[in-house]
Amino acid sequence: MEVKRVAVLGAGLMGHGIAQVCAQVGKYEVNMRDIEQRFLDSGMTMINDSLARFVKKGTLNEEESKKVLGRIHATLDLEEAVQNADFVIEAVTENPTLKKAVLMDVGKFTPSTAIITSNTSSISITEIGAATGRPSQVCGMHFFNPPQLMKLIEIIRGLKTSDETVELVKQVSINLGKEAVLLKKDTPGFIVNRILSQALNEAVYLVAEGIATPEDVDKACELGLNWPMGPLKLLDYIGIDTDLFITEVMVKETGDPKFRPSNLLKQMVRANLLGRKTGRGFYDWTK
Ligand code: 3HC
Repeated sequence: MEVKRVAVLGAGLMGHGIAQVCAQVGKYEVNMRDIEQRFLDSGMTMINDSLARFVKKGTLNEEESKKVLGRIHATLDLEEAVQNADFVIEAVTENPTLKKAVLMDVGKFTPSTAIITSNTSSISITEIGAATGRPSQVCGMHFFNPPQLMKLIEIIRGLKTSDETVELVKQVSINLGKEAVLLKKDTPGFIVNRILSQALNEAVYLVAEGIATPEDVDKACELGLNWPMGPLKLLDYIGIDTDLFITEVMVKETGDPKFRPSNLLKQMVRANLLGRKTGRGFYDWTK
């Protein structure tokens, strides 16, 4: 099957970037859907800002940038977004009930041949597949933040995902200029978050136990491990709530206490200290 039109569900931190990569690198026609106009507007603003950075860097010219924008069609209507799509990438808020409700509708409205993928970072692909009513055509397609720059896509097989679906998702990933890794089994946290959630958690414990400041924990990892950004800056970047959600799923699904989140992480979510998106997390982002 040739993919021409992609529906990206969600225009948030991940969704806008995925929609941009699909239109910019994959040269696909893209329907980007969110539930409120302000979310679509903010997604389009982030896409404009990102395209301006590529233009400034000289990796894209003004004319190409306009063409990319012309390929992105923003809509509030789910049926309109998916009814003519060959390929769906779901990137809505990481809430299982919400995701499953959206995917049930996607299953109803997309053409019977369409492939449905999810950018979930932790929810079971097998469960998502069941929600759509066509699990053999469902696959995990996990992007990394910022999707415009990060090279990796994790492809996750659900229990009923077909070989043809995996092959097509691999092909689309290559067309998006990404490198893919394949998870042969549906497993909590996939590869990256299974490793990262423990590392980020240890960084929070170091701060919560008063052993080192966030600045020093970050400096240690940046200079001692060559991380592009330290773990606490990364937590602010990803969103403290998103990370807490991932670790809680890891604990629930594996029953393994090694994933247990620090109490400080929970308190920060209760205090709305979610990182960049609320202006404060481990750092002050308002300046
Ligand atoms: N679009 C286009 N260009 C962008 C951009 C965007 N959204 N964001 C940054 N850039 C460009 C900048 O313009 C700059 O360009 P230049 O080299 O021409 O000046 C360049 O990228 C570097 O940006 P900055 O100077 O602002 O900052 P950094 O050097 O720190 O780079 C970064 C930013 C690429 C985000 C880098 O810090 C990084 O790689 N951080 C780690 C990110 C990471 O680990 N992501 C994975 C998170 S885990 C995840 O997503 C999984 C999920 O399930 C939780």
